[in-house]
Amino acid sequence: QEDIFKKVISHAKEYGYVAQSSEIYDGLSAVYDYLQNGAELKKNIREYWWQAMVQLNENIVGIDSAIFMHPTTWKASGHIDAFNDPLIDNKDSKKRYRADVLIEDYVAKIEAKIDKEITKAAKRFGDSFDEAQYRATNPRVKDYQQKSETILKRMASSLEKEDLADVKNLIEELEIACPLSGSRNWTDVKQFNLMFGTKLGASADSAMDLYLRPETAQGIFVNFLNVQKSGRLKIPFGIAQIGKAFRNEIVARQFIFRMREFEQMEMQFFIRPGTQKEWYETWKEARMKWHLSLGMGEENYRFHDHEKLAHYADAAADIEFKFPFGFKELEGIHSRTDFDLGSHEKYSGKKLQYFDPELEESYVPYVVETSIGLDRMFLAVLSNSLVEEELENGSSRTVLKIPAVLAPTKAAVLPLVKKDGLPEIAHKIIADLRLDFNVIYDEKDAVGRRYRRQDAAGTPFCITVDHQTLEDNSVTIRHRDTMEQKRIAIKDIPAVMEKEVAM
Ligand code: GAP
Repeated sequence: QEDIFKKVISHAKEYGYVAQSSEIYDGLSAVYDYLQNGAELKKNIREYWWQAMVQLNENIVGIDSAIFMHPTTWKASGHIDAFNDPLIDNKDSKKRYRADVLIEDYVAKIEAKIDKEITKAAKRFGDSFDEAQYRATNPRVKDYQQKSETILKRMASSLEKEDLADVKNLIEELEIACPLSGSRNWTDVKQFNLMFGTKLGASADSAMDLYLRPETAQGIFVNFLNVQKSGRLKIPFGIAQIGKAFRNEIVARQFIFRMREFEQMEMQFFIRPGTQKEWYETWKEARMKWHLSLGMGEENYRFHDHEKLAHYADAAADIEFKFPFGFKELEGIHSRTDFDLGSHEKYSGKKLQYFDPELEESYVPYVVETSIGLDRMFLAVLSNSLVEEELENGSSRTVLKIPAVLAPTKAAVLPLVKKDGLPEIAHKIIADLRLDFNVIYDEKDAVGRRYRRQDAAGTPFCITVDHQTLEDNSVTIRHRDTMEQKRIAIKDIPAVMEKEVAM
C-alpha cells in the first residue's frame, strides 16, 4: 500500500499535477503547489461541487469572504480556546509528536504484530486455516487485540477530559511494552493552538493581531444577515463558499492529505430549530450521492458517525474514503445547532436572528454544515485513478482513470505524421473544440507512445488525424479506459465528447 502511495506522489509530479512548494529551496513541509494539470483538475472539482451545491439548489447561494477576519471572530467561534492539538516532545531525539497520533502509531505497531502472527499461522496450517477463529481463540492475538482496543479507548477518554498527564503515562507505558521511538524521555503533553498568527498595520503600537482563517465557515456566519436580507432568503436556505484555510498542522505527512495551507468547500444550511435531525440526515445522503455520482466505486466510501463531538456540534459524521493508507476522513457533515450565530450575537452585540413569517417569530437559526477539503478530494481522485494495467500482448500501461468530467485535458488531437497537411487539420479541429473543451495538440513521437503519454496524464480521448481524414473528413477517436478506437466524422466529435465529459 505504501508503494502505491509513493507512486501516486511521484506520478503527480511527473505528469504536472502537484509538486512541493519552493522545491528548489528544498521545499516547505506540508505546503504544495498545483502545476498545470493539477490546477485544471482542482478547478474542475471546484466546479463540480459548486454546480451541485449552488447552481442546482434554488435555495443555496455562494459567497467569497476574506481570509482575514476580525480577531474576535475566533474568540466567538471557540478557535482561540479550543482549536488545539496535544503535543509531546521527545527530549532525546528532539522530535515533536501529536500525542494522539503517536498513540495511534503504537497501536498500529501492535496490530502489525497481530498480522505477523496470523500470517505465520496461516502458513503453518495451510488450507484449513480459519482467521476469524484464530483471532478469537489464540491467547497472544487476543491479548494484543484487547490491548490495542483498551489503549485507544483510554486515550480518547483522557483527551476528552483533558487529562494530559494520563496521555503522557499512556505513551510511556506503550514505549515500554512496544518500543517505537527507542527513547523514554518525554516532556509533558501540552495543548498547541493550530491557528497561524499575523499582524495587520504597519506601526508596532497600532498593529492588530490577526489569524489566518482555519476554516471558511466563519466568513459565512458573520455574513448570514447580509446575505439573507439582500437575497430575501427564506429559511431553510444555504450559503456556500470555496476558499483557502490555514492550520499549523504538526503531523505533516501523507502528501496533500494534511496540509498547512489548503482549500475548503463548505456550505452552511440555515434551518428552524428542532428540524436539525432531518436536515442532518438529508445532507448526509445528498453528499454521499454527490461522491457516488463520480463513479469511483461505492466500496471506497463509508460513513463514520462521531461519538466524540466538537465543541459546536450535536451530531457529526464523516464521509470516509479509501485512500492508499486506509479509510480516512474526506468530508464532514456537522449539525452545529445555533452555536456559531448565538456566539457571534454575544460577542458582537448585534442581533443575528431571522424573522420566520410562518411562525411569526424571530429566532437564531440552527445550522447543518457540509465541509470537504478540496485538496483531499483531489487526492481521493488521483489515488483512485492511478492503475497499472497488464495488457493482452504481455506489456503493461500506466493509466490515470480520472472521471472524464474532472479530467484536466479532455482530448489530445494527434496528427499521425507531421506532414501531408495532417497537422493543419489537427489544429483546425482544436480551434473548433477549444471554446467548449480543454484540448491539446501533440505531434511528438510515434502515435503509440503518444497514446501512452495521454493515458498516464489522464486524458479521456485521443483524436487521431490520418490519411483517410484527407479523403472523408473522418478521424479515429480512442477511449482512454477501454483503448477502443472508433472512426467518426469530424463534425460528430463534440457530441461524442459531450456525452462523457459534460458535468
Ligand atoms: N468548518 C468545519 C471544519 O472545518 P474540519 O473537519 O476541521 O471541519 C473539514 O475540516 C474538512 O476540511 C475535512 O474533512 C478535510 O477534508 C479538510 N481538511 C481539514 N484539515 C485539513 C488539512 N490540514 N489539509 C487538508 N484538508 C484538510
